[in-house]
Amino acid sequence: MKRLFLIAMLGSAFPALADRLPMPANAPASFTSECSSCHIAYQPALLQANDWHKLMAGLSEHFGSDATVDRKTEQEITAFLERNAGNASRLGSAGNPPRITQTARFIRKHDEIPAKYWRDPRVKSKANCEACHPGAAKGSYSEHDISIRELRE
Ligand code: HEC
Ligand code: HEC
Repeated sequence: MKRLFLIAMLGSAFPALADRLPMPANAPASFTSECSSCHIAYQPALLQANDWHKLMAGLSEHFGSDATVDRKTEQEITAFLERNAGNASRLGSAGNPPRITQTARFIRKHDEIPAKYWRDPRVKSKANCEACHPGAAKGSYSEHDISIRELRE
């Protein structure tokens, strides 16, 4: 019992860095307003700068949606995403069009999830982070905070 308590204390004192992807404090208001209506505003650390650049250059055909914004807003959001992008060698390439869910890092972090969960009606898409990570919009991806009970360890 004492030992468990100690482990819990250590766990909260040194949370694994990978769990927490906070939104940078300097995020422009346009990013949240333009990029969180169809899905969460994905944290910039989830893609490398090149991939954000590619994605932002193709907003008129954004995964079957038109996500166009005016030019000034597009420049503002692109600059913010590139400035706060993730580490290219840790993430790996995201494919074309770039997807967070195609980066080597995402695949590695989720490789123990049985395929049927990606098709589960509660989930529907890998891009639907919030289906499993209720704190995703706030940047919390801890394996201890997973809303699908069968996937909790
Ligand atoms: C009109 C709706 C809409 C808006 C607005 C929108 N998106 Fe998307 N986005 C989508 C759809 C639909 C997908 C594909 C989701 C899926 O595959 O389940 C997507 C996917 C993505 C992905 C890839 C997720 C994956 O599969 O890894 C990224 C990154 C992304 N959007 C970023 C943005 C950014 C940045 C903005 C703001 C400039 C934005 N989106 C605005 C609809 C939208
Ligand atoms: C089907 C449910 C599901 C979906 C959807 C999902 N994840 Fe996960 N994710 C998990 C589970 C379960 C784990 C814990 C895996 C483990 O540690 O073995 C995890 C782990 C993670 C981790 C690592 C956390 C750590 O402690 O190292 C990150 C980061 C992450 N997910 C981000 C995302 C992002 C970003 C999305 C959306 C683009 C997403 N996940 C979509 C279930 C999901």
